[in-house]
Amino acid sequence: MLVRRGTEALCKPLSPEDCGAQSMPDASPVKWHLAHTSWFFETFVLGQRPTYRPFHETYGYLFNSYYDALGARLARPERGLLTRPSLADVLSYRSHVTERMFALLTETPDAWVRRSAVIDLIELGLQHEQQHQELIVTDLKHLFGSNPTRPVYRVWPNEAPSQETALEFVTFDAGVREVGHSGAQFAFDNEQPRHRVFVEPYALANRLVTNGEFLEFIRDGGYSRPDLWLSDGFRTAAERHWRAPLYWYERPDRGVEPCFEIYTLSGMTPIRAEDPVCHVSYYEADAYARWFGARLPTEMEWEAAAEELPIEGNLLESGRLHPRATAPHHVRLRQMFGDVWEWTASAYGPYPGYVPFEGAMGEYNGKFMCNQMVLRGGSCATPREHIRASYRNFFPPDARWQFSGVRLARST
Ligand SMILES: [Fe+2]
Repeated sequence: MLVRRGTEALCKPLSPEDCGAQSMPDASPVKWHLAHTSWFFETFVLGQRPTYRPFHETYGYLFNSYYDALGARLARPERGLLTRPSLADVLSYRSHVTERMFALLTETPDAWVRRSAVIDLIELGLQHEQQHQELIVTDLKHLFGSNPTRPVYRVWPNEAPSQETALEFVTFDAGVREVGHSGAQFAFDNEQPRHRVFVEPYALANRLVTNGEFLEFIRDGGYSRPDLWLSDGFRTAAERHWRAPLYWYERPDRGVEPCFEIYTLSGMTPIRAEDPVCHVSYYEADAYARWFGARLPTEMEWEAAAEELPIEGNLLESGRLHPRATAPHHVRLRQMFGDVWEWTASAYGPYPGYVPFEGAMGEYNGKFMCNQMVLRGGSCATPREHIRASYRNFFPPDARWQFSGVRLARST
């Protein structure tokens, strides 16, 4: 119930028009997210009961995301065409599914409901909905950020200037480490099984790369130096006219050197040099690291360093949907959780002995293990209960609309 209400609370500041629009094929309308997360419970839990009748006969086609085992579906780029069902209809659908799920769990908890496989599906449905909470924020930011009026989603209070932390590298010894999820708590199939890896000696930056540091890269001609870039990245940056991270806008009053303002969900703001740089692609993160004389960490290096750290930071519950410099100061490695997803140098693939979830759920993660890079640590839009050290996010290397940033690493 809390998770379902949390999704709806994210939509409170929005108009029906806000909820229906789609800004690009990779992003979905808020209304579609609201319906799809309900479809998930309806299809994989409620629909397994012989007495259940679907809320609407077309919703299975409209709100299936990518499950080929379930048949045909609306193409993703066409989700913004759904002026019908209306937002009110979709909210009715949500209420129906929530009530039926609640009844299933509280009024008739028969033997079928108590099966561990069903409980696991319900847990997966809640974790899935939390993933879509983050996507609602990132997709909405892309929609609003594409709007010339730069709408304000939520005003967050003025904050005291945050303190800049000197960049240092924290060293780690070589050795055999265990990575991957263990224990009884929920984890996705792609985090398992736990297994051993060998890491050479390495060092991680004690904090994220900042806006001020990335601005130095820009002013040094970073975007036009082919020696810094992967071939795919240099071509992509040129074709798309990238000159700065997404949502950075050059100020018209600029002098010789480029100056920028940035769009946040709180509106346009001056760049704060000490805040983490955000909305960069893997290509830009990689080029920046090379310019600096460092590299991106592997996901194994990241996880081995993060495993003992408390899960705290600037996450969704902070209400500030933007990364910031302040972070717990009692740890050697700051901002490992929250603020921005950290690009790693690791391609997204299966762990040794990987077994996908059973049935249609096997399509949840496994079929995307190609042409994507792993990101770690969660962002300012990630629910606190959703992130952990073993969590593997993944996006194509040209993706920039997620809250994605950079932590540097070095071999020592
Ligand atoms: Fe989904």
